[in-house]
Amino acid sequence: METAQETGNLTGIRQIILVLSGKGGVGKSTISTELALALRHSGKKVGILDVDLCGPSIPRMLKVQDKAVHQCDNGWVPVFVDQEQTISLMSVGFLLEKPDEAVVWRGPKKNALIKQFVSDVVWGDLDYLIVDTPPGTSDEHISAVEALRPYKPLGAILVTTPQECTNLFSKGGGEELARHAKVPFLGCVPLDPQLTKSLEEGQDFIQEFPKSPAFPAFISITQQILDGMLAQTS
Ligand SMILES: Nc1ncnc2c1ncn2[C@@H]1O[C@H](COP(=O)(O)OP(=O)(O)OP(=O)(O)O)[C@@H](O)[C@H]1O
Ligand SMILES: [Mg+2]
Repeated sequence: METAQETGNLTGIRQIILVLSGKGGVGKSTISTELALALRHSGKKVGILDVDLCGPSIPRMLKVQDKAVHQCDNGWVPVFVDQEQTISLMSVGFLLEKPDEAVVWRGPKKNALIKQFVSDVVWGDLDYLIVDTPPGTSDEHISAVEALRPYKPLGAILVTTPQECTNLFSKGGGEELARHAKVPFLGCVPLDPQLTKSLEEGQDFIQEFPKSPAFPAFISITQQILDGMLAQTS
């Protein structure tokens, strides 16, 4: 049997999805979390790589903030969210001493950490690796894309809010933007207080709230991803 180091820790991943946005607080980590839960619901094995070094939020959303990563011969072992080990998570949040402490990494140190994050996590076989990123296009994105580029298919989801586009479009900004960029529009997630609450409490929204307004949106987005509708980065 080949070891992970010989084959590379990312070679067992079938599809990588970057989650991006221009502005902060638009729902990237929410989409990353719910997408992972919905993909698991469809029987897929999912990893989440949280490269938001300043505000890692996924550990809390999945209620694993108190867990720790540890090292093995081939790299970091991610935290498993469930007993069946169908969702694994690597976040800088696990490397911080105080759970809510933000790290201000700069330049080369940040790039090195991200590249290490990307290459040194022992993901094993995954159907999808979801990469949650900070807002904008900064060092984190460049480092992550550089490190992930050899591992195709590499797709991207751009998260936006209608408000972000009000200067351009009065409503349906995301849909208009997708048409403009000639990429598939995956869907619109309504504001849903039950979703906010379930994220705060680290509940499995997909399992617990099938009647909630945001539920069909996540299921439809997930189905399109399963159908291979994701825009590919070049
Ligand atoms: N559809 C929704 N309905 C209700 N609340 C939502 C929805 N989407 C996101 N939220 C809430 O909005 C807040 C911001 O979402 P989230 O953390 O996912 O954004 P983000 O883009 O990852 O932010 P950052 O840029 O800081 O990483 C969270 O408190 C989340 O619970
Ligand atoms: Mg976030």
